[in-house]
Amino acid sequence: MSGEQREAVLGHSSATVWFTGLSGSGKSTLAFAIEEALVERGAAAYVLDGDNVRFGLNRDLGFSPEDRTENIRRIGEVCRLFQDAGMIVLTAFISPYRADRDQVRALHPEGRFVEVFVDTPLEVCESRDVKGLYRKARAGEIPEFSGVSAPYEVPTDPEVRVDTSKPLDECVAEVLAYLAL
Ligand code: ADX
Repeated sequence: MSGEQREAVLGHSSATVWFTGLSGSGKSTLAFAIEEALVERGAAAYVLDGDNVRFGLNRDLGFSPEDRTENIRRIGEVCRLFQDAGMIVLTAFISPYRADRDQVRALHPEGRFVEVFVDTPLEVCESRDVKGLYRKARAGEIPEFSGVSAPYEVPTDPEVRVDTSKPLDECVAEVLAYLAL
């Protein structure tokens, strides 16, 4: 069956919507809010995030540069399958390396990979410190923490850049507007 036939059955086009940003930037919050909005409209949308991927498929991986690359590679392959199945898959991973994100893009047909940069400054993520991880990272209890002691490579040409100092519903609307859904 062709991708077009599957899209016709589902009634919308398929895509991978890839949220990237620091820990605590709001990636998951945004991805789940968009998933809810899409599902309410009858779309087949699904979020992949650390909670359903790092505890299952990728539970053998840590946070070394090699493991992060492998984390993103596997997630990218899963996304490509979801996308090929006709779905809108939303991901919420730091994905700190530009080359890894570009590899995932390259797996997708043109226009079916949408990179969304959740552009929350480090100081804001750190001041929120929802999981207390920045404090631990600063204390040296968590090594190689993105933005503190490990790199985060800012997207140079994302399809969407979200300024999370705006209210959540505005951020959601901006991403939905880009998706034309
Ligand atoms: S990625 O770098 O491989 O894309 P991923 O998004 O899966 O990271 O996981 C990041 C989450 O794991 C963070 O939000 C945080 O809760 C937790 N975490 C634990 N250790 C680290 C670390 N060293 N660096 C970043 N996040 C970490």
